[in-house]
Amino acid sequence: LVGAALGLLLGVLFWLKPPPATDRRDQPPGSAEALTNPPPPDPRLAYAGPYRNVHPAVRYVGDAACAECHAAIAQTYHTHPMARSVVPIAAVAAAQHYGREYHNPLNALHSRFFIDRQGERVFHRQVRLGPAGQVLYEHTVEAHYAIGSGARGHSYLTFRDGSLFQTPISWFSQKQIWDLSPAFEALKLTSRPVDGQCLFCHANQARFRETSVNRFDASVLSGIGCERCHGPGELHVKEGGRRDRQSRADYTIVNPRRLEPALREAVCQQCHLEGAARVLRRGRHLYDFRPGLPLAAFWSVFVPADELSEGHKSVSHVEQMYQSACFRGSSGAAKLGCVSCHDPHAPLAAERRLAHYRERCLKCHGDHGCSAPAAVRQAKADSCIACHMPPYANADVAHTASTNHRIPRRPPGGEPGPAGEDLLLGSQVVSFYPEGAGQRDPELARDLGIGLSFLMVMGKLSPSLDNPRTVALLETALRRDPADVEAWQARARTYTLAKNPRQELAAYEAALKTSPEQESCLVGAAIAAQEIKEVDRALDYWRRAVALNPVMPTYRANLAALLTGRQAWTEARAECQACLRLDPENALGRRQWILCLLKDGAVQEAQRQLELLEALRPGDRDMLRAWFAEQTRRQRPAP
Ligand code: HEC
Ligand code: HEC
Ligand code: HEC
Ligand code: HEC
Ligand code: HEC
Ligand code: HEC
Ligand code: HEC
Repeated sequence: LVGAALGLLLGVLFWLKPPPATDRRDQPPGSAEALTNPPPPDPRLAYAGPYRNVHPAVRYVGDAACAECHAAIAQTYHTHPMARSVVPIAAVAAAQHYGREYHNPLNALHSRFFIDRQGERVFHRQVRLGPAGQVLYEHTVEAHYAIGSGARGHSYLTFRDGSLFQTPISWFSQKQIWDLSPAFEALKLTSRPVDGQCLFCHANQARFRETSVNRFDASVLSGIGCERCHGPGELHVKEGGRRDRQSRADYTIVNPRRLEPALREAVCQQCHLEGAARVLRRGRHLYDFRPGLPLAAFWSVFVPADELSEGHKSVSHVEQMYQSACFRGSSGAAKLGCVSCHDPHAPLAAERRLAHYRERCLKCHGDHGCSAPAAVRQAKADSCIACHMPPYANADVAHTASTNHRIPRRPPGGEPGPAGEDLLLGSQVVSFYPEGAGQRDPELARDLGIGLSFLMVMGKLSPSLDNPRTVALLETALRRDPADVEAWQARARTYTLAKNPRQELAAYEAALKTSPEQESCLVGAAIAAQEIKEVDRALDYWRRAVALNPVMPTYRANLAALLTGRQAWTEARAECQACLRLDPENALGRRQWILCLLKDGAVQEAQRQLELLEALRPGDRDMLRAWFAEQTRRQRPAP
C-alpha cells in the first residue's frame, strides 16, 4: 500500500505549476481539545492463554534449529512453494530460460529488455530506444532475489544500497514467457520501491525499517519459515518435547491444530487475507503478530460490505472459503479451514492430487455425499474438485485465487474469473472480522479512516463521495491521539485529494513532529511545500528525504529543481548526476542537468542533452524547445 500511494505522490511533478488557491482560515485539525488515549496494550503482553512463546521476549531461532529434531517435516517443507517464496537468484539462475523463444529480449515501453545470465548472477538490462530506433541509453540492474516460487511466476528484487526495488521484468509460468511485471506500465520504470508489507507475506523476517519506504537493515532474505506459523522457537528448543498431561499439548510452541478455529485460521490469514486494505492497528508493528493470537488485534482488514454475501466476486482464498457452504455449515473443532484440505508442510505430488482432495472431502461428506449420479461422476473420474472446485480461466494473476474456493454445488457456468484489478467497491467498506460489525470501536473507526484514504488514493473509491466520511473518522482519531503518525498521514492524503496543499503540508508536519524520519511524510511535505512555493521548507524536506534514502531518483530530481532555481549550482550538479545515474529516464533531472551545463557555458553538450530529452519525450518537443530557447537567452552573459 505504501508503495502504491507513494508512486502516486511522486507522480505529482514539479513542472511549472501555478500555486493553487487555498483557504487560510482552515484550522489545523486535531489542534483543539486534545486528549491523549494511549494505544491499546500490546496483545502479546496482555495474553492470558497457555502458550508461552507468545511473549515478545521469546526469540526466533530459525529453521535450521527445528530441522535437528523435525527432520522429516523440515525436508518436505523446504520443497513447498512457501519455503521458496523468495530465493537468492543463484538458486534459480541455472534453471531459468534465456532463449529468444521465451521472449528474451522482450520489447516493451520503447525498450528492449534483456535477461543476461553470468554464472550464478542475473542482470536485467534495458536498452531504451528513441522514435527512430536509436539507442538512447542502457540501464542495468542486478536481480538479487526471485520472489514467487514460480507456481504462477517470478518477479525479481534488487537491493540498491539498502533500498529494495522490484525490477520491471517477470517470468509468467503458464505462458512460459518473460514479460513486463504487472502494473509497471504506469510507473517509472527504474524505481518501483518494495516495502516491508510485501516481504511480510513473502519472506521470513525481513529487517524492514518501518519509518522508511523501502529501506532494510539487512539485505539477506529467506523464504517463509517454520516460526511464522508456530511462533518463536527459543523456549521450545531449550525445553520442548514435554507435553501437558491433560491437553497433551506442548505449550512452548504453537501447534495450530490445537487452536480454536478462528485462531487457527488467523495463522494463515496473516498472509492469505489481503482484503481491499490492510491497516496496522495503532501502536502495533509489522512483525508483532504471534500465532495463537487473533489477527484482528494487530491488523484491520477491510473488504467490500457485500463481499461475504453469496455471489459476490471476491478474490482471496480466505474470502471465498468463508462463502462456501462447507465453511458455513461446519462448526466446532471440525470447522472447515485451510488445513482441512492443505498440508502446510509438503507440496502435493501431481499424481496424488485427486485422491488427496477426495479423501479430504470425504472426511466430512463420507455419510452424506454427492447427490449427482455415479455415472456422471465417473465420467470425471469422480474428482470432487473437478466439479466443485474448478480452476478459473485466467489463473496467471498473483493475489487472486485461481481455484474456486467457494466450493459451489454446480459449476458456475460462464462466470468470469476473479480479476483483482477491476474490483469495484461501493462506498461501504467493512472490517472482515465480526468485531467490526458494529463499527463503534473508535480504534476500528480510525483504521477505517486510514483504509478509506488509501482506497481513494489508489482510485478504488471516489473521493467526492467518500472524502467527507474519511475526514470525519480521521478527525475523531486525531482528537483521541494527536501523535498518531498514520492518521496524520491519512489526513494529509484527504487534503491531497481535496487539492488543499497548505493543509496537506500542515498534516504532514504534524506527523513529522512525532516521527521526524517518516520518509513518506517528508516526501509528502516536500511536494506540498513546493506546490505552495514554500521553497525553503521544500528544500529542507527534500534534503532530509535524500539523506534517508539516497537512491530514490525522484527525490534527487526534485531537489535539483529547487537548487537550480536558487542558483545553488554546485549542489545542483551533484544531485543531477546522482539522479541520472539512478534513472536515465528522469526528465525532470535531465532538464536540471541542461541548466547546469548552460550555466557552465557547455552549450554544445546542453544541446546534445536536449536532443536526448526530446527523443525520450517526443510529445513534449515543442515545449522543450521553447523552454531551452528561453534558458539559453537567460544564461547568455550580458554583453
Ligand atoms: C531438541 C529437539 C527439538 C527441536 C530443536 C524442536 N523441536 Fe519441536 N518437538 C520436539 C519434540 C520431542 C516434540 C514432541 C513430539 C511428540 O510428542 O510427538 C515436539 C513437538 C513440536 C510441535 C507440536 C506441539 C504440540 O503441542 O503438538 C511443534 C508444532 C513443534 N515441535 C515445532 C517445532 C519448531 C517450529 C521448531 C523450531 C523452532 C522445533 N519444533 C524445534 C522436539 C524439538
Ligand atoms: C508468512 C506468510 C504466509 C503464511 C503465514 C501462510 N502462507 Fe501460504 N503462501 C504464502 C505465499 C507468499 C505463498 C505463495 C508462494 C509462492 O508460490 O511463491 C503461499 C502459498 C500457499 C499455497 C499454494 C501452494 C502451491 O502449491 O502453490 C497454499 C496451499 C498455502 N499457501 C496454504 C497456507 C496455509 C494452509 C497456511 C496456514 C497454515 C498458510 N499458507 C500460511 C504466504 C503465507
Ligand atoms: C498480504 C500478503 C501479501 C502481500 C502484501 C503481497 N503478497 Fe504476493 N502473494 C501472497 C500470497 C498469499 C500469494 C500466493 C497465493 C495467491 O496468489 O493468492 C502471493 C503470490 C505472489 C506471486 C506469485 C507467486 C508464484 O509462485 O507464482 C508473486 C510474484 C507475488 N505474490 C509478488 C508480490 C510482490 C512483489 C508484493 C509486494 C509489492 C506482494 N506480492 C505483496 C501474499 C502477499
Ligand atoms: C504455513 C504454516 C506452517 C509452516 C511454515 C510450518 N508449519 Fe508446522 N504446522 C502447521 C499447521 C497448520 C500444523 C497443524 C497441522 C494439522 O492440523 O494437520 C502444523 C503442525 C506441526 C507439527 C506437529 C506435528 C504434525 O505433524 O502435525 C510439527 C512438529 C511442525 N508443524 C513442525 C514444523 C516445522 C519443523 C516447520 C518448518 C520446517 C513447520 N512446521 C512449518 C503450519 C505450518
Ligand atoms: C470440514 C468439513 C467439510 C469438508 C472438509 C468439506 N465439506 Fe463440503 N460441506 C460441509 C458442510 C457442513 C456442508 C453443508 C451441508 C449442509 O448444509 O447440509 C457442505 C456442503 C457442500 C456442498 C453443497 C454446496 C451447496 O451449495 O449446496 C458441496 C457441493 C460440497 N460441500 C462439496 C465439498 C467438496 C468437493 C469438498 C472437498 C474438496 C468438501 N465439500 C469438503 C463440510 C465439509
Ligand atoms: C475444501 C478444500 C480446500 C480448502 C478448505 C482450501 N483449499 Fe486451497 N485449494 C484447494 C484445491 C482443490 C486447490 C487446487 C489444487 C490443484 O489444482 O492442484 C487449492 C489451491 C490453493 C492455492 C493455489 C492457488 C490456486 O488458487 O489454485 C492456494 C494459495 C490455496 N489453495 C490457499 C488456500 C487457503 C489460504 C485456504 C484457507 C483460507 C484454502 N486454500 C482452503 C482446496 C482447498
Ligand atoms: C461430475 C461432476 C461431479 C463430481 C465428480 C462430484 N460431484 Fe458432487 N455434485 C455434482 C452436482 C451436479 C451436484 C448437484 C446435484 C443436485 O443438485 O442434486 C453435486 C452435489 C454434491 C453435494 C450436495 C449434496 C446434497 O445432497 O445437497 C455434495 C456434498 C457433493 N456433491 C460432494 C461431492 C464430493 C465429496 C465429490 C467427490 C467424492 C463429488 N461431489 C463429486 C457434481 C459432481
